[in-house]
Parts: sequence; structure tokens; C-alpha cells
Amino acid sequence: MPVEILLMPERLPRHVAIIMDGNGRWAQAHGWQRTRGHEQGAEVVRAVTTESVRLGIARLTLYAFSSENWSRPAAEVAVLMGLLHRFLIDELPTLHANGVRLQAIGQLDRLPREVRQTLDATIAATRDHPNTILSLALSYGGRDELVDTCRALAVEVAAGRLAPAAIDAEAFQAHLYAGACPKGADAVDVVIRTAGEHRLSNFLPWQTIYAEYVSVPEPWPEFTVAVYRRALAEYQSRERRFGCVPANGVRQHLPH
Ligand code: IPE
Ligand code: IPE
Ligand code: MG
Repeated sequence: MPVEILLMPERLPRHVAIIMDGNGRWAQAHGWQRTRGHEQGAEVVRAVTTESVRLGIARLTLYAFSSENWSRPAAEVAVLMGLLHRFLIDELPTLHANGVRLQAIGQLDRLPREVRQTLDATIAATRDHPNTILSLALSYGGRDELVDTCRALAVEVAAGRLAPAAIDAEAFQAHLYAGACPKGADAVDVVIRTAGEHRLSNFLPWQTIYAEYVSVPEPWPEFTVAVYRRALAEYQSRERRFGCVPANGVRQHLPH
């Protein structure tokens, strides 16, 4: 039996962000259609969310569909949207059982109407749940988020509700897709990317300024709970300094 990877409870990340990559390559390596990898990937999301709840992770952001992914073949986009819709319907009982609160970030207006409706209904149905926030990045692009945030601030200024001098990091943060949250709560502690890649691909530029990066070789369909715990153990082995001198021991979070 495999030995469970031990984690230090006091040094767990508050916010985990995962770039779920390699579905297509995994399927093709087995001689299957790429879309079979996406189907398997949806199963993995359930296991990783459940483990995050067990560990007490406050926020889990999953990169599910990027703004660039709209450029994929229409048939693959349709399968991904269909899987997302089914996931939202099938997962509701598990989200309730685990006390998981669903959120979504991205240009959600671009999603097919029925997906958007089910997404909105699931977000509403889970809004009071106390455990992990599962934030799905859908039709998400980091540059889009920064530009949309600037536009939202400009609208406030033009309407006379916000003075330009009042635009600070906190005001900016409050206009990001996720909206206002307690100071520092949106900061990503660790970005995990699967399939051995080492790039951000337009993911969370604001939120990841001091994130640790962990790349694992497994493609997303093979991202088991054991692989997740191994990635978190690697995160825990890092010394986070945030530009400071580590005189008082290792810091956990960005100083305010
Ligand atoms: C991740 O797997 C899923 C999405 C990006 C939607 P990919 O579909 O990117 O799989 P690879 O990277 O081509 O193998
Ligand atoms: C990043 O994966 C987007 C998601 C995981 C949703 P991609 O497969 O789209 O990224 P690139 O093209 O390899 O950078
Ligand atoms: Mg990919």
C-alpha cells in the first residue's frame, strides 16, 4: 500500500490554483480521442475538491477554460461546454455534502446560455456553504481580467463615485472578477501545473505575484490525491520570503 504523504497542517496553503493541463495528450497516448481526456479530467476535479475540503484549503481555483481555448476546433469546445454543464448538474449533491461554495471568474457572458444559467443557479445554491471555495476559471484570461478591471474602475470614476486618487491596490482588487474579499484572501499561495509544463498561459497575473510554482509530470487525468499531496509537500519545502529577510522564520503569507 502506498504511504500517505505527510503534510504540515500549519503550513498548508490558503489558496491553491491549478492549471489542469494534458488531457488531450493523455487520451492520445492511449489511442483515444482528445475529448476522452476531458471526460476523465472532470472525474479528477471531484477527487481534488474533496481532498481540498479535507485539508481545509480556503480557496481552490481551477483553470478550466481559457480565453484562448475558444480558438480550439468547435467540436472540442462543444464537448468541453457539455462536460462543464454536466459537471455542474452532477456535482451539486457533492458540493452540498462537502459544504463547498462554487464561484466562477472569467468572461462568463461568452458561455452558452444554458451553461451560464446552470452555473448561476449552482453558485446561488451554494453561496452560504462554509468550507472550500471552488472557483472555476471559465473563459478566463489574465489580460482580459486586468483590462475589464480598469474599465470597471473608469466607469466608477466617470460616474463620480470614485476619485482617481482613491484607486489603490484594495480598490483594484475589489473590481477583479471575484469581487471584494478580505485583504490578501485572493492571493494565490501555490500554482500547480500538470503535464510537466512551466508557464502561466494567461492565468491570474494579479493574484499570483508571490505564488510558488509547482510543476508535476502527470497529465491532469492522472492527477491523483497522492500526486496532489506530493505537490503540496513540495510547496511546503519552499522558503517564502516576500522580499524580506527570513530572520523570524519562514513566512506564510504576503505581509500587508
Ligand atoms: C487541459 O488539457 C484542458 C483544457 C485546456 C481545456 P488540454 O486539452 O490542454 O490537453 P493537452 O495539453 O493538449 O494535452
Ligand atoms: C491552459 O492550458 C488553459 C487551461 C488549463 C484551461 P492550455 O493547454 O490551453 O495552454 P497552452 O496552450 O499549452 O499554453
Ligand atoms: Mg494543454
